[in-house]
Amino acid sequence: MKSYKIAVLPGDGTGPEVVHEGLKVLEAVSRRYGFKTELQHYDLGGERYKKTGEVLPDSVLGELGQFNAIYLGAIGHPDVKPGILEKGLLLKLRFSLEQYINLRPVKLYEGVDCPLKGKGPADIDFVVVRENNEGLYVGEGEFLNKGTQDEVAIQVSRNTRRGVERCLRYAFEYTRKRNKRKTLTLCGKTNVLTYAFDLWERVFHEVGAKDYPDIKRDYAHVDATCMWMVKNPEWFDVIVTDNMFGDIITDLAAMIQGGMGIAAGGNINPKGVSMFEPIGGSAPKYTGKNVINPLAAIMALQMLLDHLGEEKAALEIEDSVRWVTARKLKSLAAGKMGYSTTEVGDLVAQGLDPKERK
Ligand code: IPM
Ligand code: MN
Repeated sequence: MKSYKIAVLPGDGTGPEVVHEGLKVLEAVSRRYGFKTELQHYDLGGERYKKTGEVLPDSVLGELGQFNAIYLGAIGHPDVKPGILEKGLLLKLRFSLEQYINLRPVKLYEGVDCPLKGKGPADIDFVVVRENNEGLYVGEGEFLNKGTQDEVAIQVSRNTRRGVERCLRYAFEYTRKRNKRKTLTLCGKTNVLTYAFDLWERVFHEVGAKDYPDIKRDYAHVDATCMWMVKNPEWFDVIVTDNMFGDIITDLAAMIQGGMGIAAGGNINPKGVSMFEPIGGSAPKYTGKNVINPLAAIMALQMLLDHLGEEKAALEIEDSVRWVTARKLKSLAAGKMGYSTTEVGDLVAQGLDPKERK
């Protein structure tokens, strides 16, 4: 029997509640498909930091590198200064484990309220491939004359040929495998960021023309991308972009697919250990109330299984989620679903069996 070692980092706030539902679905689907999982929980996050001052000890980082995948709940604690956990834990994991892709599928399921007038599931189905190790996120920069009237703050966007090329190749491969409109859109800002996106654009066309002639190449500035995403989301198939733009456009994209209740993402190292997470935060105000929507965490688990090669199990989870949104939930918003967090997990587990979708 196949067995996967999965590190579970429930994290802060509502993280543990939603991860609990994801693991419930994992348990049910692994029984149906005959694979095993060995789970190891880690208490990383705000509470541990407050108690011990530790964010991500090197020993733990070393251990995390040994798993088949990492399943993450949420990071962020109201009593911890912003930046400490984000940089010390989330970004540190992404960087140290060389998870150079942040993969964010954007799909509107039946029954989910979409804020765009006249748009439905047929119109909203694309994927954002966000570079995850470089750009403005490298933390390079400096203050000059700090605290004076002449202060200057410099923040560098670092884009390496190697980093850009591996991200673009992943995006081309993904577009080919996805096999929908076979269109890859580079989202950039070539009219202003004339170093960074000059490199991106050159490598995009060079690699695309040479190795991916079957994939149509398209380009949109980041501001226009936001506009099209609202006006004509059906134009997109796969979008590839840098770390910062990817961060911003995927929050917009999450809103058109129904919000943080359902949006999930993967931090991917194609040859190493990847990490999957709901893209929303730790939602302190809903913590412990059994009202938060666990579907995003369940979809993160779905992506994790797909990544491990359990494609059928992943498809079944997606079908069950689609049934739950179409036939069961009143809304995706916390407290307004018509079901509790644990009940939504139960429903998805139940609906794995098509005969039980009633
Ligand atoms: C995300 C988050 C993170 C990011 C934060 C928490 C550092 O917003 O995963 O999109 O900016 O990448
Ligand atoms: Mn973000």
